[in-house]
Amino acid sequence: EQAELGDYPHYLIKEIHEQPSILRSIAMTQGENATTLAEMMRASYGTFFIGCGTAANAALTGQYLFSRIARFHVNFAVGSEFGYLEHFLTPQSLVIALSQSGETIDVIEPLIKAKKEKGVQVAALVNVLGSTLYRMADFSVLLGAGPEKCVLATKSYTAKLAVLLMTAYALDGRLDEGKELVLRAADGVEELLRDGIRDKVEALAERIYDREHIFLIGRGLSYSSALEAALKIKEVTYIHAEGFAGGELKHGVIALIEQGTPCIVFAPSDETQAAILSGAQELKARGGFIIGISPKCSDVFDYWIPVADVGDASPIVNAVPAQLLAYCLSIKRGTDPDKPRNLAKSVTVK
Ligand code: G6P
Repeated sequence: EQAELGDYPHYLIKEIHEQPSILRSIAMTQGENATTLAEMMRASYGTFFIGCGTAANAALTGQYLFSRIARFHVNFAVGSEFGYLEHFLTPQSLVIALSQSGETIDVIEPLIKAKKEKGVQVAALVNVLGSTLYRMADFSVLLGAGPEKCVLATKSYTAKLAVLLMTAYALDGRLDEGKELVLRAADGVEELLRDGIRDKVEALAERIYDREHIFLIGRGLSYSSALEAALKIKEVTYIHAEGFAGGELKHGVIALIEQGTPCIVFAPSDETQAAILSGAQELKARGGFIIGISPKCSDVFDYWIPVADVGDASPIVNAVPAQLLAYCLSIKRGTDPDKPRNLAKSVTVK
């Protein structure tokens, strides 16, 4: 095990650091797969993205990516809910299942049924060659993120985002732009891992590790970044962390904010920035401690984690500070970063 870990004390931090090179290799090698997937989507009459846990968050990001980049509507459902939407399915439907392991029962089971009873086409974004999903799909994209040992999904998540981004660009006839963006995101992630951001995140962890609740907000492309960051934090720290759409604050969440409640705000340089910063202001006015993840500092931030401005690839760079924060909080709280309690890497039985 130590040989595999190299200089890293845990798989979580090792796998976080593998992301730049995986992203670069996806940009160089997945163009053809992205084109094939885009063609399948174009030929379908109704595309669904499904997945569980982190894979669901990648799928939800995909819905937004295809809307903005390719003006293409994709339906999204978490795997365990997909079966309840089967009435819409026809043989022209395309279901794209996302799964690191390719064994998650809540994805596999409704897919088998949809294939058998409705005759749908199935495509897969999967990280394990020869897995159940890999074998059952009509077309499988092998992510090539390498074995993911930590129970928390990190590199398989950003790998899925990169493939989805390239596919959305391919669907719009701009694959090269998509590849370019993934390369920029790889540089952005590398910068984050290199430039002392770890110290910044550690200092933040020091400040918030004993809080009971952490809230996270994002809009548009960053909505799913907030959900995924919350999932990373709760999985490994057992702190109650919850992600929300920025616009939902006033519909309930704001009631939960107390003096010093950590609020993580995703504010990329896109059309959501002004509205999310004004939401952050409302949180701050109620005592929230505002942590901004953004290419640009803002007066409203009490703590700023700078990330590269990478346009539509912002969900990729947004993911990394949250992964690091989850890791640092886990070390600080003395939990096991690789094997959190009650969780399994892959849930294969109901
Ligand atoms: C489990 C893991 C999660 C993972 C989810 C889906 O719940 O603990 O980290 O995101 O399964 O796994 P999959 O292999 O389908 O991506």
